Amino acid sequence: MRDVRLAFGRRVVYDGLSCSLARGGIHLLLGGSGTGKSTLLRMIGGLQRPDSGEVRVAGQLLTGLSERELGGIRKGIGMLFQSGALLDSMTVLENVGLPLREHTHQSPAEIRERVTNVLHAVGLEDVLALLPRELSGGMLRRVAFARAIVMQPEILLCDEPFSGLDPLNVTRIEQLLVRLNRELGLTIVVTSHHMASSLRMADQMILLRDHRCVAGTPEELASSDDERVTEFLGDDGRAYLAFLHESRAAGGKS
Ligand SMILES: Nc1ncnc2c1ncn2[C@@H]1O[C@H](COP(=O)(O)OP(=O)(O)OP(=O)(O)O)[C@@H](O)[C@H]1O
Ligand SMILES: [Mg+2]
Repeated sequence: MRDVRLAFGRRVVYDGLSCSLARGGIHLLLGGSGTGKSTLLRMIGGLQRPDSGEVRVAGQLLTGLSERELGGIRKGIGMLFQSGALLDSMTVLENVGLPLREHTHQSPAEIRERVTNVLHAVGLEDVLALLPRELSGGMLRRVAFARAIVMQPEILLCDEPFSGLDPLNVTRIEQLLVRLNRELGLTIVVTSHHMASSLRMADQMILLRDHRCVAGTPEELASSDDERVTEFLGDDGRAYLAFLHESRAAGGKS
């Protein structure tokens, strides 16, 4: 993103925002409520155009593309929305298999197998025939997550992937994200208030503040004396980051 500006009416979201997210990294978007985290994911996903400035994904300038061309780019991007957004009248199999039905020529049997596998990866069994209203909140998040990765995207955008999950499933999704990143080179952008788990896996942190951002590795932000950073992180956040820094230095990335 370069010099991005966006306002909704009088509400300015970004005013000269620039940042770059390396391919193959896990990037953590932080910032208070309403600072534009979800909107930034939507912009990377080609669902929201900036008023001015450049947004490039994999070298492609999104701002110049037609809706149709954007549709092509979106196929390589998995999105997990903050609201989950499953279709109420469809079963879990139909919801998770939807991108495969729309964008591939796979047979129903192949789709069923792929869907079963991704559901297994998020810790769900025997839910294919259930409707969204028959699932708990945590199960819904995991089904939405399964749908976001079912197409094996190159980029995965996750809006609050840990919200509403119990600790066991936070760990499960965290491990799955790290595995997708390490094994398949998936580029991941996560927004999260769940600091501990997101920080553990982040290569880069992007802190949204005052309509712009400050970015760096967790180690860099921990030792930053930029007021916008220290204020947001607070003493606890900095102490935790310093601890992470030490344990990484001692034994590599945990
Ligand atoms: N489609 C829209 N129309 C009008 N205003 C919008 C729209 N989308 C976002 N906004 C506004 O833009 C700002 C950023 O919203 P966004 O949802 O990106 O924040 P966020 O950082 O994700 O917040 P949260 O932590 O609460 O999820 C907010 O002030 C919001 O009201
Ligand atoms: Mg949000």
